[in-house]
Amino acid sequence: HYIGIDLGTSAMKLILLREDGVICNTVSKEYPIAFPKPGWSEQNPEDWKAALLAGVPELIRGMNPLDLAGIGCGGQMHGLVALDEQDQVVRPAILWNDGRCGRQTDWLNHEIGTEKLMQWVSNIAFAGFTAPKLLWMKEEEPENFARIRKIMLPKDYINYILTGVHATDYSDAAGTLLLDVAHRCWSAPMLKICGVNDSQLPKLFESYEPIGTVKEDLAASLGIPAALPVAAGAADNAAAAIGMGVVGDGGCNISLGTSGTIFLSSEGQIANDNPALHIFAHADGGNCLLGCMLSAASCNRWFMEDILKTDDYAAEQSAIMEEKLGCNPVYFLPYLMGERSPINDVNARGVFFGMTMDTSRADLLQAILEGVAFAIRDSVEIAAKNGLLPEKSKICGGGAKSPLWRKIFAAVLNLPLEIPENEQGPGIGAALLAEAAGTRANIRQLSREYAHASETVLPDPVLVERYEKRYQQFRKIYPACRELFT
Ligand code: XUL
Repeated sequence: HYIGIDLGTSAMKLILLREDGVICNTVSKEYPIAFPKPGWSEQNPEDWKAALLAGVPELIRGMNPLDLAGIGCGGQMHGLVALDEQDQVVRPAILWNDGRCGRQTDWLNHEIGTEKLMQWVSNIAFAGFTAPKLLWMKEEEPENFARIRKIMLPKDYINYILTGVHATDYSDAAGTLLLDVAHRCWSAPMLKICGVNDSQLPKLFESYEPIGTVKEDLAASLGIPAALPVAAGAADNAAAAIGMGVVGDGGCNISLGTSGTIFLSSEGQIANDNPALHIFAHADGGNCLLGCMLSAASCNRWFMEDILKTDDYAAEQSAIMEEKLGCNPVYFLPYLMGERSPINDVNARGVFFGMTMDTSRADLLQAILEGVAFAIRDSVEIAAKNGLLPEKSKICGGGAKSPLWRKIFAAVLNLPLEIPENEQGPGIGAALLAEAAGTRANIRQLSREYAHASETVLPDPVLVERYEKRYQQFRKIYPACRELFT
C-alpha cells in the first residue's frame, strides 16, 4: 500500500492506494486560510503538520502498517515556507493566490525585463510565484528575511517533517521563478536578484525519486514503519496529471479545485510564444504548459456557503433549468482573488454583469459556473495559439463532481471531457509517485495503467454554439472594467 497526500488549500486529502489500484481509504483534514489584508492569503505550516499527524493514523487504522511501501505528497504550488536556524517557521506561508507582490512583480517584468526572465527561468513573473514573495519579504520584513536559513514549498515542508531532508522536485521548483526550467537547475541570476543563495534552497530531485525515509521519532507517532521511503513528490497540478494518466505528449487535464487549472503535457521543451501561461516541469520527467485561475470551485463555494449560507450544492444546482444553459443574460467575472492566467492582474475583482429585475438566485449561480468555464477557455485560446490545442481533456478536483458543471465545461471548451472514477487526482498521483520511488517502475507506465475514465461527457452541439456567442461577449467585459479595478 502507498500513502498519497494532497496538501491542498482548503484541506489535506490523504489516500491509501493498494498496489492493484484500489483506493482502500481516504481522509480529509481541513485547515483555515487567512486573508489578513485584501488580496493577501496565508496559512500556517504548523496546521499542515497537524493535519499530517492526525490524518495518517486515521488513514491506516485497521491495516497492518508493515504493508505500507511508501509515501508521496503533492501540494499547492508557489507558497513561500521559510525556516530559521532552529527550523522554526519564520512567518506564515504566503500562498499561491496571494496578491501582495504586485509591485515586485511589475519590477521584475519591467526593470529586469520579461526577455531576460524568459531566458533564465522560461517564465515571466506573476505575483503568486515564490521569487516576488522573497523580494517582498526583503523589502517589507527585513528582520524576517535575515532569519531565513531554508526556503521550501508547502509539500516540501511535509517531506521535511517526515524525513528531515531539505528537498524539492522539478515540477514544484519550476513555480518559484528561481528554477532554470530548460536546464533543470537553480538560476544563478535569479538567486542573486532575490538575495538568496544555493545553501538556502532545497536539493532538486525528479518527482518519482526517493528523497529519504521517515524519521524514527515521527514514524513512531504516526504508527508507520521507520525507514519507509518518501518520494520527492510533485506540484499538485503535476501530481494530478500523473493520477489522471496525463503524461508524455499531448495530454490535457483540467482541475477544478480552489484554483482552476489547465495542464498540457509534453515530452520535450515547449515554446512559449505567449508568457501568459506557465512553462513548468512535469512530474513524469517531461514538461507542461499550465494556465491557472486563482478562484474556480472557490467562487462556487463563496457564493454557496458565504452568501447563500447553504452547503447543498446539488439542490442549489438543480434549480438551474436545462433550457437556460447558454441563454443566461448574467455574466460573472471570477476574479475574487485577482487573477493569474491569462490576465496577470492582482487588482482584478469579481463582477456580476447584466442583471435585471427577474434575475434569480439560480441565474447568479449559473453565471458563476459559466464564468469559471469561460475563464479557463481564455487559457485554452492561448494554448491553441502556442500550437497546443487539446482534442480532449480529463477533468478532476472537487468541482468536477458536478454533472452540470462538467456539461457546461464540455460545451464552453468544445472538448470531450473524460471523467475519472475518483476525482482526487493529486492524491492518487502522489501515491503513484511513491510507488515509482519505491519500485523504480516507470512513472508514465504506472500512470497510464492506473488511469481509466468512467465516462466521457461529449460537448452538446447546440450548447457549443450558444456558448460560443456568450464567450465572445464575456471576453469583452474584463478589458472594459480593467481601469476601474486600479
Ligand atoms: C498553479 C497554482 C495552483 C496551486 C494550488 O500555478 O498556483 O493551482 O497549485 O492548487
